[in-house]
Amino acid sequence: MGGGGSSSGTHMVELQRQKQQQLKALVDELEGRVEVIMPADLNIVRYLGGGAFGEVYLCRWHGVEVAVKSLSPSLISNDSSGTPCADACADLLKEAAVLASLHHPNIVSVFGVVLPPWQLLSSRSRTTSSDMAAGLQQHQEQEQQQQQQQGGSTAEQLAAAADELTDELLAAAAGTSRTLSAPSAAGSAAVSFSGCRAAMASALSQGHPPAPAIVTEFLSLGSLHNAINCRADWLRGSMARAKLLLDTARGLDYLHSKRLVHFDLKSANLLVTMRDKVPCVKLADMGLTKQRRQTFVSGINSLRGTLPWIAPEIVKHPETVTEKADIWSFGVCMWQLWTMQEPFEGVHLHALLHQLSAPGGLSLPVPGTPDWQEPECPAEPAPGWRSLMQRCWQQVAAERPTARQLVEALEEMMEALRAARRRTSEPSAAQR
Ligand SMILES: Nc1ncnc2c1ncn2[C@@H]1O[C@H](COP(=O)(O)OP(=O)(O)OP(=O)(O)O)[C@@H](O)[C@H]1O
Ligand SMILES: [Mg+2]
Repeated sequence: MGGGGSSSGTHMVELQRQKQQQLKALVDELEGRVEVIMPADLNIVRYLGGGAFGEVYLCRWHGVEVAVKSLSPSLISNDSSGTPCADACADLLKEAAVLASLHHPNIVSVFGVVLPPWQLLSSRSRTTSSDMAAGLQQHQEQEQQQQQQQGGSTAEQLAAAADELTDELLAAAAGTSRTLSAPSAAGSAAVSFSGCRAAMASALSQGHPPAPAIVTEFLSLGSLHNAINCRADWLRGSMARAKLLLDTARGLDYLHSKRLVHFDLKSANLLVTMRDKVPCVKLADMGLTKQRRQTFVSGINSLRGTLPWIAPEIVKHPETVTEKADIWSFGVCMWQLWTMQEPFEGVHLHALLHQLSAPGGLSLPVPGTPDWQEPECPAEPAPGWRSLMQRCWQQVAAERPTARQLVEALEEMMEALRAARRRTSEPSAAQR
């Protein structure tokens, strides 16, 4: 065999090795932690909404209603060779892994994942995290050494192992036998980006959500954002609003106790359901969650979150961000539940970004202050609401309350509201 043959052989080995590593990493990350759900077991009832990351469908799964968040096909970009990249897909799987490890009444429960279409699993995609990449590189170097010692047979073994893993995932993901859906090893390496998208479209045309997807519990009242926009009846009372904030603070306190930062806390990611005839909030979309290490959050080097809710330090000093960024966002949710308005509505995002990064920062107009320009001024929902909200917006993040302090303050606020309600419902001394 000539030189060209051996170099293309090495290339093939390299491809196969990468394929094996990615598959192993995905399997390791999900195995035993998340249930693999077959697309054919999920039947779309209706479309619930879409965001930056994907589309959400209400589906029936084994007779129950579930929410299925499918990755948007537009997020699966292709590289110069036309091979799909799996970054967004890896993010979705990471979100599933994070959610699956969390168990709290105020955090959305995950039931399982629908694995990516085989086109993604067998592509030359990037790894899922920098930690994993470092580990994999080490593993790769060890294998390379081993291969040099053992000669050509290792390449075949690797290819066979990779194929085996592909088949396992294919069978799990498609719920079909490989002879129907899977190509040969050589075919899979040449798989195209359009094939990947076609697989997603085909699932949809058959009434199943496209893969990959996360399957979670369905919260029948939808997002708090939608409820605020349509002035839902159950949002009228101060007690109900304080309770929704308390639920949010409890979920956040749990998350922070696990050294996790949400990073995308906003009313669209607060989902509501009825529990014992009372609305209850659960935190959703931990896609941006990062493990907090010591004082700083690792891996924050780009803008995260959704602009009107994000803390100024995310724009100004992203490397110093802590869980206190979530507290700022919590303050914006408090403001929304007071004013029932959209934060910074009508302000262009570029202007917002500019003002956020200015030294004095930017703050929302508080009803009852000169900044409030609206003709109608909503009353403070409960005593202490304003001061708690403004404490969340301290420019110095360390001075903001902790999630635990938010829980305590809101419990006190609810107790005060209950006491006030009791007083007004009791007959006065004169009436007795
Ligand atoms: N588990 C669920 N139960 C009920 N409705 C849901 C559920 N998950 C999402 N939804 C609905 O689907 C909509 C879209 O959610 P999605 O998370 O994709 O978008 P978003 O929150 O607006 O933006 P982002 O992509 O930034 O999270 C939500 O606003 C909500 O109404
Ligand atoms: Mg969301």
